[in-house]
Amino acid sequence: MADTVFVLNGPNLNLLGLREPEIYGSDTLDDIAGRLEDQGRELGLQIDMRQSNHEGHLIDWLHEANALPAKAVILNSGAFTHTSIALYDAIKAIKVPVIEVHLSNPHTRESFRHKSFVGMAAKGTVAGFGALSYTLALDAAAKL
Ligand code: DQA
Repeated sequence: MADTVFVLNGPNLNLLGLREPEIYGSDTLDDIAGRLEDQGRELGLQIDMRQSNHEGHLIDWLHEANALPAKAVILNSGAFTHTSIALYDAIKAIKVPVIEVHLSNPHTRESFRHKSFVGMAAKGTVAGFGALSYTLALDAAAKL
């Protein structure tokens, strides 16, 4: 299944569209998933989009992506980005490339968002473009 891209979303991203729209925009996660599926069809890639509020689920899904193997993982780990050594270790432990994604640009926000454990292990990062960050990340995944 080398043509599958996992798109993993962490805590509070199920509330996209309702949650601080001035920061995160008005698109829901389903809106983003629909667009990625259209884009995936054009690129010949299958999209497996998931969301969980639980850190361990994200880690299990990274392992699953590696076992398949998936072509790439696009990961918006929400606030776990800034706290999770376990996510850092999981990304380091697998061979599948992980692209870190954020809707907002954490570097222009509170200082506690300036550190990214995920970014320290990821292949690359796309941040600050709203829902377009996911589109740009999928284009990058297709070219890996
Ligand atoms: C986010 C940025 C994080 O700092 C925040 O905790 C989120 C969303 C983003 O997509 O901009 O939950 O990952």
